[in-house]
Amino acid sequence: MTELTLFRTLAIYSLCLLVTGLSGCSVFGKQSSVVTPAEAEKTAYYQCGGCHGPANVRVNFMTPNIIGQKKGYLAQTLRDYRDKKRIEPLMNGVIANMSDQEIDSLAAYFSNTQSDNK
Ligand code: HEC
Repeated sequence: MTELTLFRTLAIYSLCLLVTGLSGCSVFGKQSSVVTPAEAEKTAYYQCGGCHGPANVRVNFMTPNIIGQKKGYLAQTLRDYRDKKRIEPLMNGVIANMSDQEIDSLAAYFSNTQSDNK
């Protein structure tokens, strides 16, 4: 790792920490396996809500609104982030350790959640 890469990585992780707290960064947290909709909702609230807004409320104007997005699009996009086909350091980090099952349950959760701010 070059110094620049190291610095970049640290900067991103600290930003992630700042925004979401420890649970927001799966790189730090324990790996959970999301199965039930209730678990998906919890993951969404704690791991995505800091940036994308908790259920039904979009709070952060700097991140895209994913609530109510199509399930297929969400699932594919999250896989692309995880597999580094789509590069965005924050999302790459958040999603890095997720299983297909977790991604699918999150995609289902966000596609079914209705936003008041669409
Ligand atoms: C640290 C802030 C942060 C966290 C936490 C975060 N995201 Fe993101 N997310 C972003 C940013 C910034 C973008 C825009 C990146 C880009 O332009 O590619 C984004 C983009 C996305 C997109 C693509 C939207 C589109 O229109 O293409 C999806 C889907 C997504 N995030 C889902 C999630 C999910 C699910 C979680 C929780 C597991 C999550 N994000 C957690 C910051 C975050």
